[in-house]
Amino acid sequence: MDRLNNPARLMIVSDLDHTMVDHHDSENLSLLRFNALWEANYRHDSLLVFSTGRSPTLYKQLRKEKPMLTPDITIMSVGTEITYGNSMVPDNGWVQFLNQKWDKNIVMEETRKFPELKLQSETEQRPHKVSFYVDKDKARDVMRALSELLEKRGLDVKIIYSGGMDLDILPQGAGKGQALAYLLKKFKAEGKLPNNTLVCGDSGNDAELFSIPDVYGVMVSNAQEELLQWHAENAKNNPKIIHATERCASGIIQAIGQFSLGPNTSPRDLKCSSECKMEDTNPGHEIVKFYLFYERWRRAEVENSDQSLEKLKAVCYPSGVFIHPSGVERPLHDCISAMKNCYGDKRKSLRVWVDRVSSAQISSDTWLVKFDKWELSGEEWQCCMTTVILRSRAASLSDGFTWMHVHQTWLEGSGHVGGGMPKHKQGDVAKKTYSWRSMRLVMCIDGNLAQSALMDQSGLSSTSCSKGVHGGQWTVLQVHTILSTLHDLWA
Ligand code: GLC
Ligand code: MG
Repeated sequence: MDRLNNPARLMIVSDLDHTMVDHHDSENLSLLRFNALWEANYRHDSLLVFSTGRSPTLYKQLRKEKPMLTPDITIMSVGTEITYGNSMVPDNGWVQFLNQKWDKNIVMEETRKFPELKLQSETEQRPHKVSFYVDKDKARDVMRALSELLEKRGLDVKIIYSGGMDLDILPQGAGKGQALAYLLKKFKAEGKLPNNTLVCGDSGNDAELFSIPDVYGVMVSNAQEELLQWHAENAKNNPKIIHATERCASGIIQAIGQFSLGPNTSPRDLKCSSECKMEDTNPGHEIVKFYLFYERWRRAEVENSDQSLEKLKAVCYPSGVFIHPSGVERPLHDCISAMKNCYGDKRKSLRVWVDRVSSAQISSDTWLVKFDKWELSGEEWQCCMTTVILRSRAASLSDGFTWMHVHQTWLEGSGHVGGGMPKHKQGDVAKKTYSWRSMRLVMCIDGNLAQSALMDQSGLSSTSCSKGVHGGQWTVLQVHTILSTLHDLWA
């Protein structure tokens, strides 16, 4: 995982169903609180790991249904599949390791002898995971008998019971805890062991996470009996593990606060942006704060006042522009004025969140920030890849930022809905027209605002059209620097 050059400040390793994702919260409020906290305060220097029992198929399905962030690392199928980044590159070393003393055919053969076991769907049968349903009262006996049989056949397996119904059979070296131990070992070898790790779970297959040395752990308030029982028998006296009083993602935020792992106030918990603590100010925070205001404006949850819009205008550069996904360009100030007409137009229905916020400092006072901006309104999901240029208003970041430029691009399929289910998903979105080699830029060079430059595929031929409004002139070297910054940032 080379997104970070330094050890992560915090690594969160969270289960999804009933931990990060609350299936009883149709408004997804605790998840959205977590998202805002993460993108505002942690994304730039920390790692988010999702560790789920779901197969890749069901994991991708969940991402279509819930406003989830993109994790840095995804561990699926109960710690048997590890992938990295948005494109989910598999860890083949882990696959090799799991092949030891494992033979899926033998597992299938032996389990057929148990009529109590009902095979789960085909998608959930994976190379290193065989899964069944079994009634609670039969689980213990079946597990005991089965492990004896498999041992006799020369296999070394792990049998896990979760959620009072799911029975998974995995290689002994697999499981959520072992996958985490493997990652920590990898980070250590690279000199990038996270400063703190927080594991979060609710059910039986999460128990292993809590037995990894040195990690903090939170069992969310709604944790299953089997996990609480495991804790009572195995980890009762470990002060680094708590049973939260809050459900799901809110329980995770609670644990961050209780263990003092970093900021634990989600921007969504603040009524107005002036309540933000100065030390929280970074480009990610600015972006989250802005889109939260935008959501609240359209939901009519903030006061409808000209004064608020004037305040927004005051943080936009007077000649800054907004490039709409259609390619139409408008002054930023006009866009803010136009917001007057959409006050309360999406009462109760709109949610806005940002994902994958990344920023690069491109001059002493200027940041290039890139992120995915999501809007969910009723059944309709829309995503824009967004690039913003922010300039700090004074030497210190705590004085806030000026928005110099905003450029949005639709992602393929965005904005279409069908049959009640969104067709457009986070997991499998494709870029439509966006390419770092082919984009219009408005850049601040040496404090001057260069008007624009059209970068074509060859890169260099674009340097001639770079006359700045304040007379700033781009040099070949500057264009190269910008291109390589963009490339590093988005590679
Ligand atoms: C998820 C998986 C299922 C597994 C369960 C418990 O629900 O889809 O196959 O049995 O997690 O690990
Ligand atoms: Mg769970």
